[in-house]
Amino acid sequence: MNWKKALESMTPYKPGRSIEEAKRLYGLKEVVKLASNENPYGCAPAVKDYLATSALQYEIYPDGYASSLRSKVAAKHGISEETLLFGNGSDEIVMIIARALLGVGANTVMATPTFPQYAHHAKIEGAEIREIPLQNGQHDLEGFSAAIDDHTAVVWVCNPNNPTGNLIPSDRLKTFLEQVPKNILVVLDEAYFEFITASEHVDSVTWLDEFPNIIILRTFSKAYGLASFRIGYAVGHPEVISNLNKVRSPFNNSSLALAVAEKALEDEAFIAQCCELNHEQRQRFNHYATEKNLHVFDSEANFVLLEVPGDADHASEQLLQQGFIVRSGNALGTPGYVRVTIGTEEQNTGFFKAFDTLLVGEGLQV
Ligand SMILES: Cc1ncc(COP(=O)(O)O)c(C=O)c1O
Repeated sequence: MNWKKALESMTPYKPGRSIEEAKRLYGLKEVVKLASNENPYGCAPAVKDYLATSALQYEIYPDGYASSLRSKVAAKHGISEETLLFGNGSDEIVMIIARALLGVGANTVMATPTFPQYAHHAKIEGAEIREIPLQNGQHDLEGFSAAIDDHTAVVWVCNPNNPTGNLIPSDRLKTFLEQVPKNILVVLDEAYFEFITASEHVDSVTWLDEFPNIIILRTFSKAYGLASFRIGYAVGHPEVISNLNKVRSPFNNSSLALAVAEKALEDEAFIAQCCELNHEQRQRFNHYATEKNLHVFDSEANFVLLEVPGDADHASEQLLQQGFIVRSGNALGTPGYVRVTIGTEEQNTGFFKAFDTLLVGEGLQV
């Protein structure tokens, strides 16, 4: 078969270890997954009530326009409905953007390390990838500006950035947006938006009139605790959304995903509570790192990138043996670190204990 050339050097996405696999492997009774930045508090009680009683007609295709959810999300942001696009997770929107705008002859600018799906889809489409190294975990926006040229089609800004968790100060980001030519789409991937606590942070949705070339990605997978349903959305200029809609498959969100996302929006107090707890627990990680003299990046998300003694794969395996699944930095472009999702108070206490054991095993004082 005549596969695209780019596929030759690519490998399918390799998920981290599952809880069941980890239990089997090490004979553990309890395993805590802190590897994919899900919500350790689950989802809103209203979603669970809905799932127990819903009477959806499974034989009927979903609403391909997501009408009901669309009106709720539009109301939440105070925006018009035609500025929204829903995806099978924000992952799918990344793919739609790449498919609509990238190809041979175009280039695309992004940080490194960052969320890997930007480069993944750009590669499949045959576009040139221009990766600008982070500086102390932060996007080098001056480097971005220097990399942009007449063939740049898409710029990806992951904010807060995965895997470092760093947030770009709003004034810096705005100055950058003022410099980007208006014919280039700037994707502001804000999968972790809800967890941001920095007081000076400005909601980028309010910038849409001024910058019609931005598109903002949000998701129900993280703070809303609905990762398994696969639903996220984009906010952009109606013309941008209209073009992306030409690429979207007609029924890309299941009826159940649409319904539970709508339910989840009814309970913003639950989200606020989760984010407050996340903030408290994030500070515990920072204190732990300081106490142990380990570097941790300045996170505004629900995960931290934490320094480990020795090799990150080895450290991850040691933590796994003690019942904690984390993401090795070796797979994320950050050797010497592990990315840890911030769990509940109890989970984190257990994690710190496991990490203490790891430090002792490496001959380090705790
Ligand atoms: C920065 C970022 N963007 C997008 C996604 C995709 O999220 P989803 O497809 O579940 O909405 C993730 C998931 O980890 C992420 O970290």
